[in-house]
Amino acid sequence: MVNVEMVKAAAAYVEKRIEKKPEIGMILGSGLGALADEIKDPVVIPYEDIPYFPVSMVEGHANQLIVGELSGKQVLMMKGRFHLYEGYEPSLLAFPVRVMKQLNIEHLVVTNAAGGVNEKFLPGELMIIEDHLNMTACNPLMGANEEAFGPRFPDMTYAYNRDMREKAKKAAQKQGLILQQGVYAWFTGPSFETPAEIKMSRVLGADAVGMSTVPEVLAAVHAGVKVLGISCITNMAAGMLDQPLTHEEVMITARQSEGKFKQLIRDLIEEGF
Ligand code: HPA
Repeated sequence: MVNVEMVKAAAAYVEKRIEKKPEIGMILGSGLGALADEIKDPVVIPYEDIPYFPVSMVEGHANQLIVGELSGKQVLMMKGRFHLYEGYEPSLLAFPVRVMKQLNIEHLVVTNAAGGVNEKFLPGELMIIEDHLNMTACNPLMGANEEAFGPRFPDMTYAYNRDMREKAKKAAQKQGLILQQGVYAWFTGPSFETPAEIKMSRVLGADAVGMSTVPEVLAAVHAGVKVLGISCITNMAAGMLDQPLTHEEVMITARQSEGKFKQLIRDLIEEGF
């Protein structure tokens, strides 16, 4: 179980390594890590150097915290994240966000690669997350509640901050970028969903599916951190096209979308939250 001392130790280590305080946190999803290359004068901190910080084994995840300036603001990026399917104890999925909060970060941008469930979506498009469905029966806030992290029963009505969403839409409009909006459904993975699960998700109101993001959002909302979630639709979800899904396809499409993704984030950060 994660406790306050562990989070404080990790945050103190990061603080020691950096000169300026980060204002914005970012979690970069599969194939979307290149944004970290845009950071000026980056301080690169391998996860394994940070006390109690987990390390991810997923291909395409670099396991680095990268801190520095992007579009005139100090940002802290996680290049590589942790998934339930890797076998972590759920409260560990909340750990990095709690470290961000301990560093006084108030805004978090969470990104992911996701399968499109909405039939109007196309691979390569970006989607602003309006809300989520938790299909895992798991929550990183389960277990004894530490009041220092947040309340026992956090409200999820406004989990995905409205102002941040509006700003993202405006930034996309300025660029002439198609920006979809919708509900993200979190499945455990690591197997992709079945066609029947995708049909069920659509009936329940999902527009996209993936294996990440929700635990970090739950931890952020718990901590009072404002969240913007962006999915890169890397593929149509299982059964929508008569072809199998592969992680390779996910990575290739995510990388192809990186240019517009980077531009959107840069504009957003420049505008300020
Ligand atoms: N399902 C789950 N996770 C994903 C998908 C998908 O279709 N695409 C990218 N991540």
